[in-house]
Amino acid sequence: MQRVFSGIQPTGNIHIGNYLGAIRNWVELQHKYESLFCVVDYHAITVEYQPEQLHKRVLELAATLIAAGIDPDKTTLFVQSSVPEHAELTWLLTCITSIGALERMTQFKEKAERQKSGVFAGLMNYPILMASDILIYKAEFVPVGDDQIQHLELTREIARRFNTMFKETFPEPQPILTKAARIMALNDPTSKMSKSIEGSYIAMDDDDDTIRKKIRRAVTDPGPQGGEMGPGVKNLFTLLEAFAEPDLVEKFRAEYANQSLRYADLKQELGEAIVTALAPIRERTFELLAKPDQLIEILDGGAKHARRLAQETVAEVREAMGFKMPVA
Ligand code: TYM
Repeated sequence: MQRVFSGIQPTGNIHIGNYLGAIRNWVELQHKYESLFCVVDYHAITVEYQPEQLHKRVLELAATLIAAGIDPDKTTLFVQSSVPEHAELTWLLTCITSIGALERMTQFKEKAERQKSGVFAGLMNYPILMASDILIYKAEFVPVGDDQIQHLELTREIARRFNTMFKETFPEPQPILTKAARIMALNDPTSKMSKSIEGSYIAMDDDDDTIRKKIRRAVTDPGPQGGEMGPGVKNLFTLLEAFAEPDLVEKFRAEYANQSLRYADLKQELGEAIVTALAPIRERTFELLAKPDQLIEILDGGAKHARRLAQETVAEVREAMGFKMPVA
């Protein structure tokens, strides 16, 4: 069976962009592939963060993933820091990654601009850690949103370089995108929905009224003009397609086309569709969080399996790179 790997950071609020661009796809893919999904807490420390919040955020995210349909009996669900080999492989691959390529990463440039207390090397090396996450499991496919494509290209470049310099070891992983691979910010539909931009997202744990209110406030345009949709309305249709029944989408599309669509009606129905989809996930998340020990046990089980796979790859890489000493 071919292998799929993906990761998500426990920073800020997980939102419907993460859900539609990645998580919902993971839930489907776990039935078709051998899957490993990871809460990437080592990535979360590359920007300013609160150490006393980290563990809580890891558990919240893991609970949300399970509540959304990730089945720990089918899938290896684990936390990155439980498998320290990710960090070891990162060092080994850091030595064959060019600084120029890292400096060109769009996310690095954007995030570096937002760091008030200085930019540390971890932020620049972030994509090498991501490459290590994927390559350590020799994953063939990586289901992500559109914003991770550049990082995945770098991963392929690193894999190629390793294979040529040392020994054919890594497959070149391919992305798997969804139809909703780029959900835009509700308050600014020209930039992507993002955890770090307040007002841009609907969080997975927002309550029903907050969801309705945020959709009501979403930026649109003065009204259907015929022709190409504006970015705000287009984004609302993307969300509608993802959350509502196809006949409702058709009805609103037809109304848009004959310029009779009232955005207030679209928002009303979209708000309800999102509430219907998220409420059960939110409730299940809270139930899971009420039993943190069980959650930790699930994640620990996943990590034990993942670690065995990771250790095999790291042993192979050490050997290929010329390290012969036994590991103590
Ligand atoms: P992260 O934690 O920012 O986001 C998790 C996933 O959500 C997707 N996503 C979106 N999709 C559609 N529209 C949006 N507005 C939107 N915002 C986020 C992301 O593309 C991602 O798939 N670097 C990764 C985490 C990572 C990783 C990995 C992913 C670390 N190691 C290895 C894959 C494989 C990140 O920051 O995702």
